Amino acid sequence: MCGIIGYVGKNPAVLVLLEGLERLEYRGYDSAGVALVENGHIFVEKKVGKIRELIRSLWGKPLKATIGIGHTRWATHGEPCEINAHPHTDMSGEIAVVHNGIIENYRELKEKLQAKGIEFKSQTDTEVIAHLISLYYEGDLLEAVMKTVPQLRGSYAFCVMTSREPHRIVGVRYGNPLVVGIGEDENFLASDIPAILPFTRHIIPLSDGEIVDLRIDSVDIYDTEGNRIVKDVISVPWDIISAEKGGFKHFMLKEIFEQPKAVGDTIKGYISRDYLLPFDLKSFRRILILACGTSYHAGLLGSYWMGKYLQIPVEVMYASEFRYADVPISDKDLVIAISQSGETADTRYSALSAKERGATVISLVNVMGSALDRESDYTLYTHAGPEIGVAATKTFTSQLAVLYGLAVSHSPKKDQLMERLSALPHLMEEVLGEAELIKKLALKYANKKNMLYLGRYLSYPIALEGALKLKEISYIHAEGYPAGEMKHGPIALIDESMPVMVIAPKDRVYEKVLSNIEEILTRRGTVIGLGFKEDKTLIGMSKDFIGMPEIFEDLSPFLSIIPLQLFAYYIADHLGLDVDQPRNLAKTVTVE
Ligand code: G6P
Repeated sequence: MCGIIGYVGKNPAVLVLLEGLERLEYRGYDSAGVALVENGHIFVEKKVGKIRELIRSLWGKPLKATIGIGHTRWATHGEPCEINAHPHTDMSGEIAVVHNGIIENYRELKEKLQAKGIEFKSQTDTEVIAHLISLYYEGDLLEAVMKTVPQLRGSYAFCVMTSREPHRIVGVRYGNPLVVGIGEDENFLASDIPAILPFTRHIIPLSDGEIVDLRIDSVDIYDTEGNRIVKDVISVPWDIISAEKGGFKHFMLKEIFEQPKAVGDTIKGYISRDYLLPFDLKSFRRILILACGTSYHAGLLGSYWMGKYLQIPVEVMYASEFRYADVPISDKDLVIAISQSGETADTRYSALSAKERGATVISLVNVMGSALDRESDYTLYTHAGPEIGVAATKTFTSQLAVLYGLAVSHSPKKDQLMERLSALPHLMEEVLGEAELIKKLALKYANKKNMLYLGRYLSYPIALEGALKLKEISYIHAEGYPAGEMKHGPIALIDESMPVMVIAPKDRVYEKVLSNIEEILTRRGTVIGLGFKEDKTLIGMSKDFIGMPEIFEDLSPFLSIIPLQLFAYYIADHLGLDVDQPRNLAKTVTVE
């Protein structure tokens, strides 16, 4: 949901901003812009479309500024057009703002400002920030921001600078992410860490309600009352190479192929005691898993494993549903909030609400220092490295590795079970070895308009996730459904034109799923079987077949998801679509 960046240092700011914006583009890509202090004035350039359009229009302009802010937009208020693109300026053109989030009371503020004779250029909520700061400005930008912040309602992060003080940027975090990057004779602000990884690994993640005054040689952080706050600098273990495409056509493909390593590194966390908890999971009355999107599908799988091994009730809810449902919560509940980014608004606020009502909250995140990481009682990290493709892949299988480890942590057979888990990276490599075959298969189905994904028991969340991947990046309508429920509705959709991907490893429901396949064939549906190699029965029933190595029942999801990720990827790429940045989506959804 929009990416923002700020730079103050000795180098040409435009280069730093553009590099950062390209790394933030996954957060939104309707339009982009930069503001720089050039020769004592604010210079603004913005363009509709992707960062490359902005780069094209800046081409050839001698921009020497060493201070600037930038933005890549995912439109909320005001259609994507040049006027609504950020940065926004006040009437004098001397104050520029970039903003991520929503100012909920902007209409009321706009009316008040208009009554004072202030003219608005855009339809955005952001513009009120620029005018308010301008109204309060008396020679000190930080002071003006301090007076503005109490007027704003909603959730936001913004960066502001003025040509009247061309050596400082002020940043505010309230509900949306903002991190400070510490360099030598240069400092940075950004919506997330990968944006500034080429420049520094020394980060201060800001908390809600914090305001930072960023200068070339100092970083001062305050609360909204103006009290100084001392914060630790963290050194992130990610390197820049892990945030590059490394020869792959897309980040998503690279990240699919990184899964054996991501899962392997995550499993190593058990050996290095990363996942030891200071309490007994079985002491809780119930485990409630809250998440959104792909993380929700990981949570669903976690609930099957935890139910089986921990033998306590486990519920999973979309965080966006939990927030407004009257779910009873008490101190006997353990909440596991799963989020790759650790910034998804619905997940964060659900976890906070459960915590307020007495629950113990564990978060499972991939981004160290993210809001959820800081707001929960305990954090477990996936060791997947930065994930840039909007469609989650390697973080999903890494989340599964942590959830499985937690589930079996109390089993008398836990050593044996963990041993099986550690064989996974090798088996995942084997599945990836079939990529070319999956590509051929994908091209056969690339012109379809609809697809159904069926699975039962542990393959049901995989059916949901496989269908999500396809619709997210290829825009083909796909529905994931529990195979046993097909007869209660989706069966009506089945005819010769409907391909049905059936995930059928030889597990406890295998034979039941074969019966569901019979029901599809009777209605002349086209079955693509995804099961164990050499499964002659399934091969015989399938028009097309994807084989994976035989594996212990519990762990089949780690393997079966890979062909489905690749299937979606190759279709989207064949259709010439923007795989890493699909339309209308954003990697981190910081609005409700
Ligand atoms: C967005 C992304 C999805 C992701 C979901 C939850 O919708 O496009 O890929 O699964 O958010 O994100 P989180 O960071 O909370 O796991």
